[in-house]
Amino acid sequence: MQAGFIGLGMLGSAIARRMIEQGVALRVWNRTRAKAEALGAPVAASPAALLSETPIVFLCLRDSDAVASVLHGPAGLLHGAGGGRLIVDLTTNHFSPVVGFHAAARERGAAYLEAPVLGSVVPASQGALTILVSGGEAAGETARPYLERIARRIFFLGEEGLATRMKLVNNLVLGTFMATLAEALVYGEAIGLERERVLEILAAGAGESAVLRAKTRKLIEGDFAPHFSAGLIYKDLHILQDLARALRKPLLTGSATKEIFARVLEQGREADDLSVVYEILRGAPVTPAAGSPGAAPGRSPRPDAS
Ligand SMILES: NC(=O)c1ccc[n+]([C@@H]2O[C@H](COP(=O)([O-])OP(=O)(O)OC[C@H]3O[C@@H](n4cnc5c(N)ncnc54)[C@H](OP(=O)(O)O)[C@@H]3O)[C@@H](O)[C@H]2O)c1
Repeated sequence: MQAGFIGLGMLGSAIARRMIEQGVALRVWNRTRAKAEALGAPVAASPAALLSETPIVFLCLRDSDAVASVLHGPAGLLHGAGGGRLIVDLTTNHFSPVVGFHAAARERGAAYLEAPVLGSVVPASQGALTILVSGGEAAGETARPYLERIARRIFFLGEEGLATRMKLVNNLVLGTFMATLAEALVYGEAIGLERERVLEILAAGAGESAVLRAKTRKLIEGDFAPHFSAGLIYKDLHILQDLARALRKPLLTGSATKEIFARVLEQGREADDLSVVYEILRGAPVTPAAGSPGAAPGRSPRPDAS
């Protein structure tokens, strides 16, 4: 199996590594070339070159502006398109331009699938993501064997734009729940319990969830090195507000949560993991809980945060 991969950020590099481990011969491209070289796979000269060299190319980019620039920019992907080429876009897009990406690929004789991802860096490295897919059925079947190497569950939703809208609905849960867990932790400590104890009780009660399981260690150790950054959830909550406007529906918990994350960004913590919202709501630095690995002598409270 051969494929191209564009966008070697936090999620993209975890997915690309998993594909290589699973025997996919990857050629890659990234705007910042050093990240592409770090993967150890052949690096293409441009997105267009990549699509002319490989019949299927995956994208995992920050947002729809990034996707538009990789598709349409100088030496962009669509300049190399044609002949039944397939672009599989794992990016969390805005629901509006994503429909145009399908059309633009079609005009060039290529196919485009939107395939946003549920799950983060750790599930990606284990091939345990969930992927939502919208686009043509034949393209979905071509992509399936690749997607099965990185995901445990794949939902084919058909209609263009639907996978993206559902991904945003999922991130309404992720953002609001992360903020709620953070606030609950602040309250648990305020009533006199140790952080680990509060988390243990929440995990046995209403907090039991994939989000809490994924973030417990980070909250205990105060390790906010990014898996999914605060800046990205802020982006998604903004897109949700556009969705609310398009649907003419109120967005109540989502809007409040967007403002909570605005506070995170205001404090310069955009690049940290979204779980840093706990430190912001707490109003004081989080030091590793006593006895946790992060509490070892000489270890900084935020070991790999840059
Ligand atoms: N991280 C997660 O756990 C997670 C989970 C689910 C979904 N997602 C979604 O997956 C996507 C990628 O997330 P991530 O965490 O990997 O983000 P990230 O670490 O910020 O990486 C973003 C990638 O986009 C590239 N990029 C940004 N602007 C660009 C532009 N104008 N032109 C070309 N390339 C551009 C970056 O290139 P440079 O290296 O040059 O900056 C980098 O490769 C996002 O849409 C995010 O919402 C992430």
